[in-house]
Amino acid sequence: TTKIIMDTDPGIDDAAAISVAINNPEIELELITTVAGNVTVDKTTKNAMKLVKFFNADIPVAGGAEQPLIKPFEDAARVHGESGMPGYDFGAEPTNIPVNNAVDVLYHTIMANDEPIVLVPTGSYTNIAVLLTEHPDVKTKIEKIVAMGGAIGMGNMTSAAEFNVFTDPHAAEILYKSGIPVVMVGLDVTMKALLTQSTLDTVKSLGKAGEMLGAIFNHYYEGNEGGIPMHDVNTLAYLLKPEMYKTIPYWIDVVTEGPANGETVADIRGAYHDGKTNAEVCVDIDADAFNAWFIEEVKKMNA
Ligand code: BDR
Ligand code: CA
Repeated sequence: TTKIIMDTDPGIDDAAAISVAINNPEIELELITTVAGNVTVDKTTKNAMKLVKFFNADIPVAGGAEQPLIKPFEDAARVHGESGMPGYDFGAEPTNIPVNNAVDVLYHTIMANDEPIVLVPTGSYTNIAVLLTEHPDVKTKIEKIVAMGGAIGMGNMTSAAEFNVFTDPHAAEILYKSGIPVVMVGLDVTMKALLTQSTLDTVKSLGKAGEMLGAIFNHYYEGNEGGIPMHDVNTLAYLLKPEMYKTIPYWIDVVTEGPANGETVADIRGAYHDGKTNAEVCVDIDADAFNAWFIEEVKKMNA
């Protein structure tokens, strides 16, 4: 099994990624931390708690950063709805929302592990940047960071920038310069890994979990002709079935100002960083295999 920690901003695709992580027996989800992103952090935290409760799981949730390191916060409620996880009734709102202690909880959880752990951010990287800056000793305890975000040469917020990196580019810069191996799961693959209508129909028929996911997916305003992108789910898909992805090692720099603010720039020629690379970049995916894989994951879900 792989021990992971998810740092997340549910968010509809985050919710799907968390659902996979909770229910796949090969993944041991130790902790969920939350960050402001798709919606404000009180909402992303509540949403994470609702999912843990929905699956009767015993996974701690710690609330994190209310805003990016430097840039003013802008949410994506137009894509994910006001609550961030609309369209399904999860019952009573959680009341005992944890305070903003994600960085402390991350630090202590990671240090308490004998083996290095895998960090899986599916929101902006603010909590992780603060963790790495305030507690650099944690780095040896992180095997790798499998991060949704960025792209080589496209954006979904601007012509240059993807949402998670756009939201907190300074945090992304810290992550890519940390020296920890990063797997960049960006738009290059997530815009190809579209759930087709036929997959959605199947998912909806798969019990209570499928019904819940189907209901929130209906509210995802990012539909394309070929289906809806499941950006964050690709982090789990990569961990569980890396053979679905083609990756290339590149050096990635992050733009933190100007019209390309939030762009992840790959040294495609491998010419400018002394032959060094800092990320394994996902560049292609087998979308049919992804659809089939996702259906199998939903079948494993026990709600
Ligand atoms: C990313 O932005 C968010 O809206 C999604 O949850 C995903 O993490 C895609 O650009
Ligand atoms: Ca997300």
